Amino acid sequence: MYKLVIKGGTPLNGTVKIAGSKNAALPILFASILADGPLTLTNTPHLSDVSTTLRLLMDMGGEFILESDNSLHINASKLTKLMGEYDLVKTMRASILALGPMLAKYKEAKISLPGGCAIGTRPVNLHLKALESLGAKITVEGGYIYATTDQLIGADIHFEQVSVTATENILMAATLAQGTTTVHNAAQEPEIVDLVNCLISMGAKISGAGTSVITIQGVSNLSGTSHSVCPDRIEAGTYLIAGAITGGKITLKNARHQSMQAIISKLQEAGATIDYDDQSITLDMKGKRPKAVNVKTSAYPNFPTDMQAQFCALNSIADGQSAITETIFENRFMHIPELSRMGAKLTLEGNTVICKGVKSLTGANLMATDLRASASLVLAGLAATGITTIERVYHLDRGYETIEEKLKLLGAQIERIQD
Ligand code: UD1
Repeated sequence: MYKLVIKGGTPLNGTVKIAGSKNAALPILFASILADGPLTLTNTPHLSDVSTTLRLLMDMGGEFILESDNSLHINASKLTKLMGEYDLVKTMRASILALGPMLAKYKEAKISLPGGCAIGTRPVNLHLKALESLGAKITVEGGYIYATTDQLIGADIHFEQVSVTATENILMAATLAQGTTTVHNAAQEPEIVDLVNCLISMGAKISGAGTSVITIQGVSNLSGTSHSVCPDRIEAGTYLIAGAITGGKITLKNARHQSMQAIISKLQEAGATIDYDDQSITLDMKGKRPKAVNVKTSAYPNFPTDMQAQFCALNSIADGQSAITETIFENRFMHIPELSRMGAKLTLEGNTVICKGVKSLTGANLMATDLRASASLVLAGLAATGITTIERVYHLDRGYETIEEKLKLLGAQIERIQD
């Protein structure tokens, strides 16, 4: 097992290249099941969640080649096993994204139920109900979802709650359904737009992505294509906070400010100067202590739950008192006890964290619990006085490409060591 050792207190300065988006790459990899030929993807991030997805697709009969220029050719057009095994699915909930494409292409699918995780119960009822509306017959037995259909038929789907992966699952399934599907109360995340752009270049007929109503006209087959995965706005936001929490100046390359407005405006409220152009974003904290900011998570285009923990870290050392309210996942507060061990003054009241900013945190031995909670601990460690060690780094590797290497380039004193 690896751990990170951070000597905090150094302002971070410099330029960092943001990787392709995890949450766009995963559905796009699963979309390769729908194609009759290979997909060539560029800007795919090097993350353990991407490896898990590739392992799952390989286990089902897919093939891939990673070229020296980092482009990824994936051919999952002729699956030989229509089943997502528990051992792979349990490590990554997004595996449920295999269900819609498999069912649409092969008219049957068996996939392990993902189960709960550290941030909440995370059911898949919305995925299953929407697929049933398209004509799927679904049963759950022995921890597996069994789905079959004679033919998926387009329908009007009204999601009672906004869900990112349920929207993706249903729109992938609908691409090969007979007739037109309209998805109401669809998630509007930029990663959905990226998936839809890829599906359209495969031959799908989809309109409305990025709004709450998406219309899909089914086609009889989809082809292979080439696609460049959009940049990761959550990785980008995390590095902006690394600049803000250490009083430094950081430029992000391969970052799109258009999809980060909720994050950018909170950082400006915290006192950061932010400039951007089409491809880059620069944050300058000018050595100042951040001001405390109130945050409430909600579906895109509002403030993302995937940035909540990182703002907790920032508010921990900010000037003033703040409230951070989580409305998406009921239990996404695993970072609170760990940050408190560093001297943060955080109190949980229902789904709101009340944070009284302290002047500085002190390094401590910490345990990573889930992906974004772990990122908040790294950020806190960068700002703290003394040494912070973070165990169970594998949580970070699910969503941050070579995090310690990128932070080192910005001047951080951070090492990954083996226990
Ligand atoms: C996706 C993202 C994740 C992000 C989350 C919210 C991917 C791979 N993951 O996760 O990083 O934190 O969106 O922005 O893109 N729900 C149900 N029933 C369902 C599905 C969801 O009740 O069938 C609930 C969830 O418990 C949660 C809410 O809906 O309270 C939203 O979750 P959802 O958007 O589905 O999250 P994911 O798609 O799993």
